[in-house]
Amino acid sequence: MSEQQLFKVTIDNITIEVPAGTSILEAARKIGGEVAPPAMCFYSKLKGSGGKCRTCLVEVSKGSEKDPRPMPKLVASCRTTVMDGMEVKNITSPKVVDARAGVVEFLLLNHPLDCPICDQAGECHLQDLSYEHGKEGTRYEFQRRKFKKHDLGPYIQLHMTRCIMCFRCVYTADQLTENRVHGVLDRGDHAEIATFIEKSLDNDFIGNVIDVCPVGALTDKTFRFKNRVWFLKPMDAHRDCPKCSGKVTLWNRGEEVFRVTARKDEWGEVEDWICNECRFEKKHSSDWVIEGPREISRHSVISQGHYVHTVTPTETFLAVNDGRAPHLLLDIHTESDVNKPEIELSLINGPAHSNNFNSK
Ligand code: SF4
Ligand code: FES
Repeated sequence: MSEQQLFKVTIDNITIEVPAGTSILEAARKIGGEVAPPAMCFYSKLKGSGGKCRTCLVEVSKGSEKDPRPMPKLVASCRTTVMDGMEVKNITSPKVVDARAGVVEFLLLNHPLDCPICDQAGECHLQDLSYEHGKEGTRYEFQRRKFKKHDLGPYIQLHMTRCIMCFRCVYTADQLTENRVHGVLDRGDHAEIATFIEKSLDNDFIGNVIDVCPVGALTDKTFRFKNRVWFLKPMDAHRDCPKCSGKVTLWNRGEEVFRVTARKDEWGEVEDWICNECRFEKKHSSDWVIEGPREISRHSVISQGHYVHTVTPTETFLAVNDGRAPHLLLDIHTESDVNKPEIELSLINGPAHSNNFNSK
């Protein structure tokens, strides 16, 4: 067998050797830490993913040993393979830092700022990205997109307004299940994730779309509004499952299992896909063999304690909105129909519990 060809690539002044055909993003992940560009659409376990969101842009300051000319534009690192002698700049390039701030601004154009009621808060990749690269205010003056609600069945909740069109859930359904019933309908500004004819997503492995969604567009209906992830204790556990590996993370509070997810690696990617039965139907500690606490290595705004020492902005709309008065003010709880109307969340003793929220 011929030996695999290795290419030398230097990213942010760190040189590494990787097999030919490796993407810049994967090479950077081998170095790790801040050198690895953020990725909102690429998913190493999904064929064809990447190239949609542009968060992974990098500068190629030297094309290769044979052709040292720099690439004229920033490139998507998830879709560009390394060449021998290539030099790449990620966080060391002011152009990249600037472009990434622009990409975050674009991603947030239509994304609602409903983190306070979003189940993904605390583990949302867009939340992390906005914290690191976003701006305090918005320049966007138009109405955000609205969509007709689609019911995807008893397990998966779709919030289309939060979707960033990364296509990961479509690839997941294509590559993991026998019959994909959802996809992207329409084009451009009207593009949306939906089932053409109202249909439940109920294939055996379809729950994995929840884990791959980088934002809160697809969430677990059996966990919805029941607790905040930072109040829960993640525990590694397994069971003898005839359909999947049965290796999961349980999110507990005391003995109560609030949700079950796949285990994720340091890039926020699922280690082993799990089946719907493990995810949605095994919600008792007695269903599982507990292995021990899981360390959540993915950086998140919560695990880093970003909120602890931040300065609270001056509490006026004008100050946080570049001097502009709001066009319309809505009560987020009334709008989203989250809590039961007779319950005043601010008056509850301690954190809110599932009983305080509407179950639908
Ligand atoms: S629903 Fe989530 S996973 Fe699917 S395209 Fe939108 S953001 Fe991506
Ligand atoms: S991660 Fe590369 S374009 Fe989205």
